[in-house]
Amino acid sequence: MQIVIQADAAAVAEYGAAVFIRQLQQQPASVLGLATGSTPVALYQRLIRAYQQGEISFRQVKTFNLDEYLGLAGSHPQSYRYFMQQQLFKHIDIPATATAVPDGMAADPIAACEHYEQQIAAAGGIDLQLLGLGRNGHIGFNEPSSGLRSRTRIKTLTQDTIKDNARFFQPGEYQPHLSLTMGIGTILDARKVILLATGKAKAQAVKAMIEGPLSASCPASALQLHQQALVVLDEEAASELSQLEFYRHIERENASLLARLGRS
Ligand code: F6R
Repeated sequence: MQIVIQADAAAVAEYGAAVFIRQLQQQPASVLGLATGSTPVALYQRLIRAYQQGEISFRQVKTFNLDEYLGLAGSHPQSYRYFMQQQLFKHIDIPATATAVPDGMAADPIAACEHYEQQIAAAGGIDLQLLGLGRNGHIGFNEPSSGLRSRTRIKTLTQDTIKDNARFFQPGEYQPHLSLTMGIGTILDARKVILLATGKAKAQAVKAMIEGPLSASCPASALQLHQQALVVLDEEAASELSQLEFYRHIERENASLLARLGRS
């Protein structure tokens, strides 16, 4: 895992966006894995700006979102399809047919999950997967106890996650308890993974992900197995790490090595 610590959430978004911008400049026909939630919003805003300024195009890009609520149509304001439409897709030049989000209204959601895996495989796999981190260590909607090799499937949300996400729903509005989510195995198959975490509320999950044992109790700890996992944190999210100074030292060493090799 490469661990990068930035001053604040704005710097985390800027750093994460630069990774995506580089990816699209080097490989304009990239397959991107995308996330919803609060964390990636600023990163998406930065990508929209980069598109408007002509730095990048999404014309040849394909995207696959991590997850969707079971029972919400894409037109529902709390659905993840709707979120992506509002936060990113409608502002950029990506063809609508190139954006995939699991179908929350599929007549057969089990078959829809299998089909999603086939679609990812048919696209050649995911080049760069964006992740946020749940307070309980989830990635996608892979809640604690999720199989570390799981594939896209239906998952029951924990009470913690339902409570955390209640802020997006109106009081009294129906809030789904089930989701369709890429599995941990699906996420680990992405060629590169970038996870962003900001704020004090994520600090315990960040510690478990990086310094805890590899365990289904913290699904994000599965990233310890990934060959190219980049974790970008702000100071608050990094604050519980016991080897904080070592991670900063590694980053300085990396930067000076890359500068010596002329690759910075
Ligand atoms: C979203 C997702 C979730 C979120 C996580 C953090 O597609 O899969 O795993 O990334 O719940 O959410 P925020 O960013 O709202 O704290």
